[in-house]
Amino acid sequence: MSRYESSTPRSRELFHIAQRYLPGGVSYSIRYFEPYPFYVSRAAGQKLWDVDGNVYTDYWIGHGAKIMGHAYPPVIEAIRKQIEIGIHVGLPHEWEIKLAEQIQRMVPSVEKIRFTNSGTEANMYAVRLARAYTKRSSIIKFEGNWHGGYDALHIAVSPPYEKLYAGLTNGAVKDTVVLPYNNLEAVEKTVDKIELAGIIVEPVAGAGGMIPAEKEFLKGLRELCDKVGALLIFDEVITGFRLSSGGAQKIYSVTPDITTFGKIVGGGEFAVGAFGGRDEVMELLDQLKYRNYHERVFQGGTFSANMLMTSAGYTLLSELERRNEIYSYLDLLGEKLRRNIGEILEKHGLGYTTGIGSLVGVHFTPIKPKDVKTAQTMKDRERSRKYFRHLLENNIIALTNENPQFFISAAHTHEDMDRVIQVTEEYAKNVKK
Ligand SMILES: Cc1ncc(COP(=O)(O)O)c(C=O)c1O
Repeated sequence: MSRYESSTPRSRELFHIAQRYLPGGVSYSIRYFEPYPFYVSRAAGQKLWDVDGNVYTDYWIGHGAKIMGHAYPPVIEAIRKQIEIGIHVGLPHEWEIKLAEQIQRMVPSVEKIRFTNSGTEANMYAVRLARAYTKRSSIIKFEGNWHGGYDALHIAVSPPYEKLYAGLTNGAVKDTVVLPYNNLEAVEKTVDKIELAGIIVEPVAGAGGMIPAEKEFLKGLRELCDKVGALLIFDEVITGFRLSSGGAQKIYSVTPDITTFGKIVGGGEFAVGAFGGRDEVMELLDQLKYRNYHERVFQGGTFSANMLMTSAGYTLLSELERRNEIYSYLDLLGEKLRRNIGEILEKHGLGYTTGIGSLVGVHFTPIKPKDVKTAQTMKDRERSRKYFRHLLENNIIALTNENPQFFISAAHTHEDMDRVIQVTEEYAKNVKK
């Protein structure tokens, strides 16, 4: 029995019980890993405690939502205060204005914004808005980019890219055109052959392995959208408020027409999404201008922009704006991890690292991947799984099982990075070639 198994009897038991009630025993399939996931009892800073009393250093960090780590005191304080006076009321309140204003200051391309309950929803509405604005139907998305489970975008996420996922119909994806990531030529050849409403892109392909877009690629997408009158949508669900206070668009100096957010925008503690952009585009949602249901783009939801989420989101974002030095700290830690793990894997002929800022991807591939397809099709799955397991045996939780990646938070320390580097070195030395 492995160290992990002998120290997690209660988690093993809970996983057996969970399988009676939850398909696969989990509420999101990526949360399963071998031999069974540990069950969390408490979270603080960069640490998680499980039900057996073990402590882990957490690089899963709420699917990347906890940029300041778990239970960040200003956010917890804001939540505590708000819980007493109003959580969800379903009518307008001041927090939604404050949060929208805060976002606009940090991400100036977002002149107006609407809040949703997930990143998936935000992308769904962004696509709808682009179609309504341009009065065209086609959307370009890229291989290996993940935009959530919305039918029209839930295609070509993992190989084989041509195959439809269970439950999707050809009809649902017929207006989605899939192209290779970081390949501008492919986009150039396509844009004027279709009725293009918009291009949606992850500025850094997150779930696909933390693979950054090349600057020329994003600049080129901007120019092509302008040329054909289509809208450029940046999915900044991961990168928003993480790569910089202004997200990826600030770092790349490329301005999208619509940006979608999730995770951090709700304080890192709540189900959230948001989409925003130029006033002239967003006004299609305006019930004062478009009284007719058939002209106006619908967006809404019972819990959208609830008081608790917006107060937490506002508190976190204003802290990030005020403490801008956090970003150089995150970059420093990310660079340290990326460089050192990369050197170890290359020295042992095992693989490479990718990423930018506080996003680190580990690839057991024969070449350094510049696009998601290479990362996904050339990886040694077994080595990826064993590396993830080796980290777990050392009380380090990365995400995910076959695609090891690290989200770093401001609660992580240099010592935490040193430990991952040391554990990686041990793994690399013991790999059987
Ligand atoms: C880039 C990106 N877009 C969209 C989503 C979907 O967001 P949600 O899980 O909130 O629906 C995710 C989720 O991880 C994501 O990483």
